[in-house]
Amino acid sequence: MAQAKKLIEVAMPIKEISAESVRDKSVRHGHISTLHLWWARRPLPVCRAVVFASLVPDPMDKNCPEVFKDAIKIILGKENNIGDPYKPYDDIPYTVAIDKMEDNLRNRLMMFIGKFSNEYSINEKSGKTTPSAKLISNSSLVKSENKNNEIILTKARKLIWVAHNSQVGKTATELLLNFDQHYKSIKDAEYELYNTTDRHKISTAVVSKEIVLQNAISGFLDKMPRVFDPFAGGGAIPLEAARLGCYSFGNDINPVAHIIQKGSVEFPQKYGKPIIYSKSEFINIYGEKEFQKITNENIVFKNGQAEEVIIQNRISFDVKFFAQALLAHTEKEIGKYYPADEKGVKPVAYYWVKTGTCSNPSCRAEVPLLKQFYISKRRGVSEKQWVYFKPIIVGKQIDFEIKSGKFEEEGWNNRGNLKCPICGNITDVKEIKRQSKEGLLKDRLIAVIEESKNGKIFRTPTIDEISIVDKIPKQEIPGEKIQKNSAGGDTLSWGITKWGEMYSNRQLLVMHSLIRMKKENLLPDTITDKEYRNAINVYLAFLIDRIAMRNTRHNTWHLQQDTIEKVFGRQAISMVFDYPEMNPFSTFTSSAYSQLDQILDYINEESSCFNISICQNAASGDKSQFTRKYLDVVVTDPPYYDAIAYADLSDFFYVWMKRTLANDFPLNFATPQTPKSDECTALKHHHNGDYEKAKEHFEYKLYQIFDAIESQTKEIVSIMFAHQSTEAWTTLCNSILKAKMNITGSWAIETENTGGLKQDKAFLASSVTVSCTPTERKGYGEFKEVKTEIEKTVAKEVDELYRLGFRGADLLTACFGQAVSEFGKYEKVEKADGSEVTVAELLEMARESAFNALLKGFVGDDFTKFYIGWLQLYSFAESDFDDAAKFSRVGLSIDVAELFTEHILIKNGNKQTLGGFQERLQANRNTGEKTSSFLIDQVHRTMALYMGTNRMALLQYIGKVAANPESSFWRVVTSLCEVLPSGSEDYKQATGLITNKESLIRESKSVQPIVQGQGNLFQ
Ligand SMILES: C[S@@+](CC[C@H](N)C(=O)[O-])C[C@H]1O[C@@H](n2cnc3c(N)ncnc32)[C@H](O)[C@@H]1O
Repeated sequence: MAQAKKLIEVAMPIKEISAESVRDKSVRHGHISTLHLWWARRPLPVCRAVVFASLVPDPMDKNCPEVFKDAIKIILGKENNIGDPYKPYDDIPYTVAIDKMEDNLRNRLMMFIGKFSNEYSINEKSGKTTPSAKLISNSSLVKSENKNNEIILTKARKLIWVAHNSQVGKTATELLLNFDQHYKSIKDAEYELYNTTDRHKISTAVVSKEIVLQNAISGFLDKMPRVFDPFAGGGAIPLEAARLGCYSFGNDINPVAHIIQKGSVEFPQKYGKPIIYSKSEFINIYGEKEFQKITNENIVFKNGQAEEVIIQNRISFDVKFFAQALLAHTEKEIGKYYPADEKGVKPVAYYWVKTGTCSNPSCRAEVPLLKQFYISKRRGVSEKQWVYFKPIIVGKQIDFEIKSGKFEEEGWNNRGNLKCPICGNITDVKEIKRQSKEGLLKDRLIAVIEESKNGKIFRTPTIDEISIVDKIPKQEIPGEKIQKNSAGGDTLSWGITKWGEMYSNRQLLVMHSLIRMKKENLLPDTITDKEYRNAINVYLAFLIDRIAMRNTRHNTWHLQQDTIEKVFGRQAISMVFDYPEMNPFSTFTSSAYSQLDQILDYINEESSCFNISICQNAASGDKSQFTRKYLDVVVTDPPYYDAIAYADLSDFFYVWMKRTLANDFPLNFATPQTPKSDECTALKHHHNGDYEKAKEHFEYKLYQIFDAIESQTKEIVSIMFAHQSTEAWTTLCNSILKAKMNITGSWAIETENTGGLKQDKAFLASSVTVSCTPTERKGYGEFKEVKTEIEKTVAKEVDELYRLGFRGADLLTACFGQAVSEFGKYEKVEKADGSEVTVAELLEMARESAFNALLKGFVGDDFTKFYIGWLQLYSFAESDFDDAAKFSRVGLSIDVAELFTEHILIKNGNKQTLGGFQERLQANRNTGEKTSSFLIDQVHRTMALYMGTNRMALLQYIGKVAANPESSFWRVVTSLCEVLPSGSEDYKQATGLITNKESLIRESKSVQPIVQGQGNLFQ
């Protein structure tokens, strides 16, 4: 029997998923991204939605199994859900017209994935904003708060279960009963095991209970689909697949990513469970002092005597206990290097500046390389409370006082060039770099930061605080190299070529001491399970990594918040001249203890699921990893071409993980640095600077991986891609098509916060998810026919996405998927001359079709067409020069240079923006003066006249160019009203003209025709 299409091939609630995905970036507590840094993480809501929609069929498909339709009726119907939360909208909230969404099974399924809340619908109608946490209804699967909601998750798991088992000949009720039985056996087995006192000790009873639980989980998973992510990164997709009850697999080539995955998608779910200790065993492991801290509700009393201790989350408790011990032991050993002041107060941080030597031979002053003098400009406080370094210069000695107030003097460091405050000489950045390379730049302590009830206090350091660092024994500098041209940013040219050189001696002391303490038998022998010990060690290593990120000479100080910025604020390490150094043992927000809290929050939040993901540290693309068609679905998020140098960047962590975890995970840390050559990225510095080779490598790797996936996967391959360049898309599409798959669905889902869907921006704020299936090709396609099909499909897509608020690069990119799906139906598409159409040509055609679709039905000269089309795509936002060149070619005969001479586009460096009417008339006051002028020029001139005070001139001009209400002039004004950003001055004038159109035309008829010299805009 033919297979029904999956929901993802047909429909997705993309507005709703987008809203929650954008919000996900601000969800912090216990969020996967707060456990350990990884780059380009996908938001959890989009991952959950894509996995779910890739697994369930479209209930409106004629081949959809009846049992699945019945299951939707039971699970999402009115009868079993108080208040009917999955009822499709009575009036779709984000559309202007009143439109009811049909109450059918597909729409119910969509509403289950994501539905806007009633509050949002009401606010939207009355023009009020809704807080992001309240946009989506509490019954939606994608809602962040529902990640542990058993009721919602069970609905999703049941729907997947029924879809997956629909061919076994059972009714929906029977299948659901079967689900309940399997699920119950897991819960029963968990209960049995977790209520066994001292289950950490191996005994026959414990082992047999563990086997019962394992069998129950396997029995359940055997009836659920297998989902694989070949580029698992930080683990968002495997996490969501496991949460939905699937067999979840993930690969990543990078050892750091792999360990992060273990800590995210394996250990909390496996070990974050309750444990009961006998009192004696508890004391044996943790000591009497720890027992005293246990509250009564977690103690089991028998005959008034404490007999047992209940720990709700075993691994969270252990990580907290051993991490605190690690920090306490380390502090005991090295805390003396962070001395308290005379009142016994310990600083929370220190502030350092590098000094360079003035190149003037008669000066040679040691000058602090400060770009400016403030250390605090806290948000919300008055200028009087700002804090700055006031220079005190005596002879050639430069010191500072710390003062409050405003101090706007220019700094002494301008892009690395030193301006000497003593002799006025400029020392060139090249000379400062030389000094840096030769180790001649010195680090000078200029402030000590303490915490008080009223915020941070900044004071000058004491002699002891300055001299103590010289008493620290010289620490070993880890020698692993920073990669050229990538993660290194500009540090290499400053002579910082090894990761270890990013740290001061005291900072290295912290790192080495933590690592040594961790190794020195921190975990007692009473914890015998090796795997469990490894799991605790992973979190201790995460803690050390988190400290490393905040404990370098490349961190920066956030002036408005008085906090330390972590080193990867950007995706590269920059040279820094003045930097904060935290006291890791203090109460500071960046301190080691607060880092530990974040780790514990994640473990506690993600422990409730019974199901782990199975992750491999391997390069994907190995056909033998899974047997043919072993997997049901692949959901993945490949690297975005050359956007992120994962392996190079992650060496920052590899350096420390190698030292903290190599004993526990020897195979993962066998290489000196992270493996680079098999990484699927297009980085030219990995190919001796050869860009073509880098591209070839990326394309080949991607193809190889998709080819393996095609043979291993039965149903759907869903790929998320966030790159906007046509080149990156060409590679992606080529690899998909070469692997004999074709795109069957394509969705743009917003993932970045751009201030709401209605605000037009020119950068890619969305990622596009394409769903692919293995495909039988039709043979040859004729270019002309395929082109017509593409135009039709793209036009439909443009209409829909435009209606949903997508603009610019997002809108264009989303059309690529649709174009490829038409193209990919054929083995080959040939032009009339017999040559083959390439994917690159195809995507160009898709852009062209999208642009034309946006101009559909618009009559006017080419410049006006261009103006309206551009406005729809980019609004008044900045865009690249290339885009102007491309669009001027799209079906219009315009020379791109003219766009600038006519001030349609205004140049800003190598970027450009669209000219508004005021800018255009300021640039050329004669714009639109002639009857033969472009329509857009005439409209802009009219807008300027309408805004001005010379009504006579306005009426005369209207009489000349717009006396006919049906004229193209008025059609352009109407189009502008539809596409101009509503707050803009242009919008105000255009709507004013339209509102007063009739009276303006009428009055224009009663004025004298225009004569030369009249119609002056500036009267
Ligand atoms: C875009 S990231 C995935 C991010 C992930 N979805 C998340 O939310 O964290 C792509 C990942 O692919 C991995 N990767 C690159 N080449 C690979 C290869 N040949 N095999 C397996 N993984 C690879 C990178 O290490 C990186 O973690």
